[in-house]
Amino acid sequence: MIPSLRWLDDEGAVEMIDQTKLPYELTFLKITTHEAMARAIKVMNVRGAPAIGVAAAMGMTLAAQQATANKASSREVLFAYLENAKKTIDSTRPTAVNLFWATSRMMGKAKATQGDTKEVVAALVAEAKVMWQEDIDRNKAIGMHGAALLKDGDTVLTHCNAGSLATVQYGTALAPIRAAIEQGKKIQVIADETRPRLQGATLTAYELYYDKIPVKVISDNSSGLLMRLGKIQKIIVGADRIVRDAVFNKIGTFMVALAAKYHNIPMYVAAPSSTLSLSESGKDVTIEQRDDSEVTTVLGKVKIVPDGVEAINYAFDETPIDLISGIITEDGVFTPKELLAKYQSRTK
Ligand code: MRU
Repeated sequence: MIPSLRWLDDEGAVEMIDQTKLPYELTFLKITTHEAMARAIKVMNVRGAPAIGVAAAMGMTLAAQQATANKASSREVLFAYLENAKKTIDSTRPTAVNLFWATSRMMGKAKATQGDTKEVVAALVAEAKVMWQEDIDRNKAIGMHGAALLKDGDTVLTHCNAGSLATVQYGTALAPIRAAIEQGKKIQVIADETRPRLQGATLTAYELYYDKIPVKVISDNSSGLLMRLGKIQKIIVGADRIVRDAVFNKIGTFMVALAAKYHNIPMYVAAPSSTLSLSESGKDVTIEQRDDSEVTTVLGKVKIVPDGVEAINYAFDETPIDLISGIITEDGVFTPKELLAKYQSRTK
């Protein structure tokens, strides 16, 4: 797969795949302002925690360019503009921690850069590009560590899309699968369709099919039966935020984890360290609630409930961390206990 987004040096703009159009059309959006970037994140033209992080970083770079084009005369005026842009970008989606991690890192970079406003803008362009490359490198490392968990012939269940499209490239949950296949192992994927936005059906199936990786899509309520029938050997999902006692990921992950525990099937979470927020516990996290219409229709097209009936639409759920066999980061594979020990300094 091509990168889900990239910085265009000659235009000072961002080009991204419009994920709302997949799998029907591969089209691209050009984003030139931080307001447009915030909108793209909110309506999910770009989605997936690591991709949102890089998009948010590039949104801050766009904001810095906007400020200087509006003749931000001093560093103070530029920083005030950036703080405002950060608020706009941070208000788009509350659960994926990579968003806040990225805007804070960009704000820190701006303030730590010596020189005039032009030098700050140049530093933010460079930092966004570093974060873009870091994302790919971390995903490749996740792939290498995670591939060791997969045996030739395994069928792996995944939920939602934690693939190339959810990152800059290569993916998190799909990275071990990609790496294992690159090593010559035969791996098949089962993708939960992932109601209501159907990222499993529209995005995971799209990118795996595009890359010729065997994939079958199931309705979300099928995975328990498939585990019972012995048709799933491993489960790998991504994460939007990992706190010290829970993993927040796409709604439905918790039910998969419960069924996996019952059937003794290893369930792994793959995520870069930028998804860790170990100073928090589950109760600190805001779970995004999205519009009813995502549930009362199929992809906004066909209404499936009687007029007047409302829905409940949490976008993510909370899986207690003791249901997880291992967390795969760019640094290795960790039990929940080992994860806390490894990244302990970040809990302070
Ligand atoms: O609402 P989305 O599509 O942004 O949610 C993405 C997910 O929840 C993914 O499953 C995921 O694991 C995090 S991104 C790698």
